[in-house]
Amino acid sequence: MTKYKIAVIPGDGIGIEVMDEALKVLDVLQENNPDFEIEREQFPWNSEYYLQHGKMMPDDALQILQSFDAILFGAIGDTRVPDDITIWQLIMPIRKQFQQYVNFRPVKSLPGIRSPLSDGENIDFVIFRENAEGEYSNSGGRLYDSQDSELAVQNTIMTRGGIERIARAASDYAVRAGKTKITSATKSNAITHSMKLWDEHVKRIIQDEYKNLKLESYYIDALVAYFVERPQTFEIVVATNLFGDILSDLGSGIVGGLGLSPSANINPEKNFPSMFEPVHGSAPDIAGKGIANPIAQIWSTALMLQHLGRPDLSDMIMKAIELVLLEGKTKTADIGGNATTVQMGSAIAEKIREQYDTIRLGNKAYEFKQ
Ligand code: NAI
Ligand code: MG
Repeated sequence: MTKYKIAVIPGDGIGIEVMDEALKVLDVLQENNPDFEIEREQFPWNSEYYLQHGKMMPDDALQILQSFDAILFGAIGDTRVPDDITIWQLIMPIRKQFQQYVNFRPVKSLPGIRSPLSDGENIDFVIFRENAEGEYSNSGGRLYDSQDSELAVQNTIMTRGGIERIARAASDYAVRAGKTKITSATKSNAITHSMKLWDEHVKRIIQDEYKNLKLESYYIDALVAYFVERPQTFEIVVATNLFGDILSDLGSGIVGGLGLSPSANINPEKNFPSMFEPVHGSAPDIAGKGIANPIAQIWSTALMLQHLGRPDLSDMIMKAIELVLLEGKTKTADIGGNATTVQMGSAIAEKIREQYDTIRLGNKAYEFKQ
């Protein structure tokens, strides 16, 4: 029997809509697996909460979250609250305080989904984005506000330890997944201090500790062109916080869009809960219309189950997503259909049910033969 405590934070906008579908899928898995139990608690921490309480979450939020095995997160962002508040008072404290220094973002062609690239099939790589420091260290400040002489300083903080651990996480995964090559995104020709430190330690870790892996290193401007020209040649891409952020939206664009892109914020040591969320935001342009694609959220839930040690259940979800897309009857607007969020989520849940029915029928036939 595996029992997990999951904190659910739907957030704002379409985050709330797609989360309902992910929970529907979890329910179906639970109904069909007597050995799997999820105890979940939902938290209303979002922009509405901020407007009522003057903060995105209560002061003891991190203490509360710490007792959970994982956090399933939707998306936040609301036109009534500045984006830097929603991000820096909710997502960033969780990512940083819980040492979720790996942001794992798969970029993978799915059946039945057309890439905007003319040669956009068979893309399958993973971006390992450094998720705790770098360009998003929130270090700096402003002087002489609103005067002619006003100025701002924003510091990038890169540490040897921070670079080493993301390089190791990417390499460990590469070895486990049977991959042969790591691509590092850099810009050390122009950003000469922090990016040179990045280059040196990524190279040292991979050369010294992962002798069977090949390392290639590209300047970020060239790399974005290669993502478009020959995306099939990448296996694992390791990047700093900012570069990884931008590369993953590009990655998601070439395989069919944000509605299909999951992510995992992982604390590999498991000292703290990890957090699973789609790459996309709260999409105010379509929020409330019931047309958001829930696949990114459902796939993020599959990544959560993988992390929790149930790859069997994760595979069940992935197979169901592929079956629905292959059939092509149910598609949301972003991928060329007219299904609603609920219809898309229900179609995936139904495919999971069918897979279990097939397994049960198979078992019965086997018993009968005996
Ligand atoms: P966004 O990801 O919300 O939307 C970008 C575009 O993609 C929009 O046209 C949207 O309709 C579309 N889109 C996104 N997810 C979709 C889905 N599941 N199905 C169909 N279409 C989808 O990014 P944007 O517009 O830059 O930001 C909107 C808000 O979200 C802002 O407040 C921003 O700060 C916040 N945000 C939050 C994130 C998070 O919670 N982790 C991440 C990115 C943005
Ligand atoms: Mg982003």
